[in-house]
Amino acid sequence: MHGVQGKVLEIGFGIGLNLPFYSKDFVEVHAVDVNPKMTPKALQQIQEVPFPVQHHVLSGESLPMEDESFDFVVSTFTLCSIAKVHQAVQEIWRVLRTGGRFCFLEHGRSPDSKVASW
Ligand SMILES: C[S@@+](CC[C@H](N)C(=O)[O-])C[C@H]1O[C@@H](n2cnc3c(N)ncnc32)[C@H](O)[C@@H]1O
Repeated sequence: MHGVQGKVLEIGFGIGLNLPFYSKDFVEVHAVDVNPKMTPKALQQIQEVPFPVQHHVLSGESLPMEDESFDFVVSTFTLCSIAKVHQAVQEIWRVLRTGGRFCFLEHGRSPDSKVASW
């Protein structure tokens, strides 16, 4: 997460596995995940870090955050699981400030046909 700093929105936060990789002195994270079952473990992870993290059970497809309100949006292995991915990307674009950056990690289609169709 090198270089990610300021006000950060993480979409598809899960149980917060990315938290240890943020630069702790320069970051404020707003964590979004649609699945409330992730919340208890996510809140445990949040307790472990020395920077502010706000956790929200929300869909990345429809965010209540203001336009241009984030320096960075982060997502890892999440876009592949969002049903209306174009809508989510539009929302990411909307909430990023001018010059802000979207940092994402995704996998490609598996060469195994069974896995690919799954
Ligand atoms: C494969 S997990 C990745 C979790 C985490 N980013 C990581 O790398 O460990 C995908 C996550 O995206 C969340 N997710 C799926 N659809 C979503 C949506 N529409 N909005 C927000 N989060 C969503 C799931 O609940 C899940 O926690």
